[in-house]
Amino acid sequence: MVDLFDKLRMEEGPLAKYSHLPDDYFFFPKLEGEIGPRMKFNGKNVLNWSLNNYLGLANHPEVRKADAEATATYGLAAPMGARMMSGNSVHHIELEKQLAAFIKKEDVMLLNYGYQGVFSIIDALVSRKDVIVYDAESHACIIDGVRLHMGKRFVYAHNNLENLEKQLQRATKLANETGGGILVITEGVFGMSGNMGDLKGVVELKKKYNFRLLVDDAHGFGTMGPTGAGVGEEQGVQDEIDLYFSTFAKSMASIGAFVAGEKKIVKYLRYSVRSQIYAKSLPMPLVIGALKRLELLKKHPEFRTDLKKIMAAMKTGLKERGFMINPTQTPPTPVLFKGGVGEAANMSMDLRENYGIFCSVVIYPVVPKDVIMFRIIPTASHSMADVEETLNAFSALKSKLDDGFYRKEELVAVTKS
Ligand SMILES: Cc1ncc(COP(=O)(O)O)c(C=O)c1O
Repeated sequence: MVDLFDKLRMEEGPLAKYSHLPDDYFFFPKLEGEIGPRMKFNGKNVLNWSLNNYLGLANHPEVRKADAEATATYGLAAPMGARMMSGNSVHHIELEKQLAAFIKKEDVMLLNYGYQGVFSIIDALVSRKDVIVYDAESHACIIDGVRLHMGKRFVYAHNNLENLEKQLQRATKLANETGGGILVITEGVFGMSGNMGDLKGVVELKKKYNFRLLVDDAHGFGTMGPTGAGVGEEQGVQDEIDLYFSTFAKSMASIGAFVAGEKKIVKYLRYSVRSQIYAKSLPMPLVIGALKRLELLKKHPEFRTDLKKIMAAMKTGLKERGFMINPTQTPPTPVLFKGGVGEAANMSMDLRENYGIFCSVVIYPVVPKDVIMFRIIPTASHSMADVEETLNAFSALKSKLDDGFYRKEELVAVTKS
């Protein structure tokens, strides 16, 4: 037997092997100043490509005003208590109504957080007899929801319809035996790769198999589809998505989330989603702030057009310069390099310190051991000059990487090159 804390002190979690790297630099960095493309990091001005503020709403003057006024009027405490008991309000109901109308679903239920919302929705939807079939590259909140499930689950290879069909055959056989149902879960836009979920293909399988579809469209809401209603709208299959989920943490630049679908099922969820029933209601300023954001999202399609312009320029520029990127049509733009963790740290530091660019770097175990992934998040607030500056910096980094510059001792790049 061991003392639990002794064991944890030795392990410190899956990322502990990188804990010798400077505190607050690679992990838990502090970006300061007004949210936007130009912020301060480590005392220096940086061009920032790491926030999911896709439409640039975070710092929109009308958003700031609505947030401030709602906070002055209600404070952060209201409404007190869980929604079901004492925490309901006309604003919560209004936001649900407006969201439902916007994404063309019968009803919407607000959630305090996306992460807890998703795993709790999954928990509420299925019982021991039911079967879950989910995409292999699903977000951690989906995986946690699947972990809570007491019955069987089958994972299908990422976006692979052939493999999904195979898993659906297994699931159908099992559900026929248990008398349960099938829940398929995927994402609208996969946040790491930028791949769009093949919702059209998944929906097509409904003709052959009996299942219900839950889509987490955290990165698609506001960015995809002719009106910004998400990937279901983009692919013309919004009606076939049985439960549509999104968070307010990306395009809406806030906190909170929602799930949408058929009235009776949403009602069932209101009485069953444990992370909402047993938690305090979403604070009023966040609800009123979300109403303002939704109004702006609908009123200003040019935010989405601007985002797409920056996104296209970045993707085209990277491709023309020979970078390895995923050929996607969604905002997240990962750029891949061959190299180890030491090189990743050096490159990232060089980019920040010598080129003044802040961009999240993703390393093993999220990507394979010899892959370095810089994840560029274009937003409507970026300019074409920002794109050009970044392309030039990445070209310089690539030459240095190819020359072995970053293979020197770890963290040498901070000294001016
Ligand atoms: C696909 C996906 N689902 C859910 C979440 C969680 O949302 P929230 O930040 O509102 O908890 C995220 C956020 O990273 C996400 O990318």
